[in-house]
Amino acid sequence: MILRLAADPPAEHRGHRVIDRRAWIIEEGDVRVGMIDVEIYDNRAAGLAFVVAPIHRGRGVARRALAAIATRLASDGVQKVFGGVETDSQASIRCIEAAGFTCRSRQPDAEGFVYLARQLSETVVEEVAEVEEVEEAPRVSGA
Ligand SMILES: CC(C)(COP(=O)(O)OP(=O)(O)OC[C@H]1O[C@@H](n2cnc3c(N)ncnc32)[C@H](O)[C@@H]1OP(=O)(O)O)[C@@H](O)C(=O)NCCC(=O)NCCS
Repeated sequence: MILRLAADPPAEHRGHRVIDRRAWIIEEGDVRVGMIDVEIYDNRAAGLAFVVAPIHRGRGVARRALAAIATRLASDGVQKVFGGVETDSQASIRCIEAAGFTCRSRQPDAEGFVYLARQLSETVVEEVAEVEEVEEAPRVSGA
């Protein structure tokens, strides 16, 4: 799936052009424990998808990684980030809510997804100061 997305990324999402696409491997020490894939759109919004390897779940990896990604995206000028989750996946919903995303409607769309979003613009100034010193490599520390 990663190869297909890299070779043939979608050009738009619901009327907004994709202007950038990034993927981060989540590492704890030297161990690769998960991945986050992000699309950035021409309206300063970003959509993300994430996965944590089954043996590393339930230890806060996704929550910390989502917080780190939100900080990074805010510093890059993204104002809103959202994620689509399937309504029958309590793990995804609880996880993304724990990272500060909220849902306006629990009504799934035609594909069975609900979208939860987090506004980033109000936190840009405070979070940029923390991130600029350490964030150069395209990598997320899960620790
Ligand atoms: C969803 C997923 C990323 C969670 O990763 P994780 O590292 O285990 O999540 P965390 O340990 O950071 O947990 C974050 C929150 O979600 C909750 N949570 C995690 N797994 C849960 C589960 N199976 N059932 C209920 N709640 C769960 C945790 O309790 C925690 O909430 P809290 O902070 O209020 O206690 C992981 O289960 C996964 O990869 N699933 C398959 C892919 C997927 O669904 N991706 C999301 C949509 S793109």
